[in-house]
Amino acid sequence: MAVRSWLFVPGDSEKKLDKVAGTAADVVILDLEDSVAADNKAKARAMAGTWLAAHRPQVTDGKRMGRWVRINALDSRQWRDDLVAVLPGAPDGIMLPKSAGPESIQQLGAELYELEPRAGLQAGSIRILPLVSETAAAAVSIPSYASASLPRLAGLTWGAEDLSAAIGATRKRDKDGQWTDAFRFARTQTLLTAHARGIMAIDTLHADFADDKGLKRAAEAARADGFAGMLAIHPAQVAIINAAFSPSEDELAEARAIVDAFKSNPDAGTLQIDQRMIDRPHYKLALRVLGLEE
Ligand code: COA
Ligand code: MG
Repeated sequence: MAVRSWLFVPGDSEKKLDKVAGTAADVVILDLEDSVAADNKAKARAMAGTWLAAHRPQVTDGKRMGRWVRINALDSRQWRDDLVAVLPGAPDGIMLPKSAGPESIQQLGAELYELEPRAGLQAGSIRILPLVSETAAAAVSIPSYASASLPRLAGLTWGAEDLSAAIGATRKRDKDGQWTDAFRFARTQTLLTAHARGIMAIDTLHADFADDKGLKRAAEAARADGFAGMLAIHPAQVAIINAAFSPSEDELAEARAIVDAFKSNPDAGTLQIDQRMIDRPHYKLALRVLGLEE
């Protein structure tokens, strides 16, 4: 499953739910949390369940849209009801907001083990993607996800909005548009911890959805930094993110040349192409660009 663009859709918006399957998003996240007002929580979870039942996994043009649900946080009264409502629709995974650390994943995982068989699903089949930076305490303990036993953990992602409210930050970016230190720290830890574990790192959303240029810059930087994909909030962001996370023809050609060079010289540790030194890390990166990781 491609994981470049993860498009949020508010679970209580019939209009947006109708639209989302027609986008080129790699993954849709039906949101039951922050984009849904308290009075609409029950309606949203029922609508999300209906959407999942009506949009069974299907392969179009060789790819299948991922179907995920963001439930409410574990300190709410909503999250168990959310799971009960959406599991019969067999989502690929659950996004967990305000995750406090590995113990939150374990708590959610235990509930999923109870509910999966009742929904006719294989035990352990539902994956989890936590938002790891939404409180200050969570943001300073991101590395704890690196080695805990968390078989359902599919990746890590982070968010700036809740963290800025939590720490009273009146800005998230500096005058050049770069994340300020607290946010950069959370982003970097998310990236490195995900790689330390060998799972995907998903970068946070670009909130200004009319700012195509800024989004392109952010998405290209995210891919160049080692993220596998990025969150989105508006259908217009999807094509920009998908393009930024797809290797260019030049990159593909270079990666093929590196892989071919090592395949023809299997005993070589270091080679040269066009007077440039290439060694094993280049080979590894080239395989990754070609989607051929060993
Ligand atoms: N998913 C599916 N369709 C969406 C969408 C989304 N996330 N966001 C907008 N659309 C639809 C709109 O309904 C509109 O449809 P129409 O052309 O049939 O009228 C079209 O795309 C263009 O939308 P636009 O008018 O530019 O935006 P808007 O004012 O309707 O909505 C937001 C702006 C930010 C409220 C909206 O994009 C949104 O709800 N995003 C998701 C928010 C969310 O889930 N947040 C949680 C994560 S932080
Ligand atoms: Mg939030």
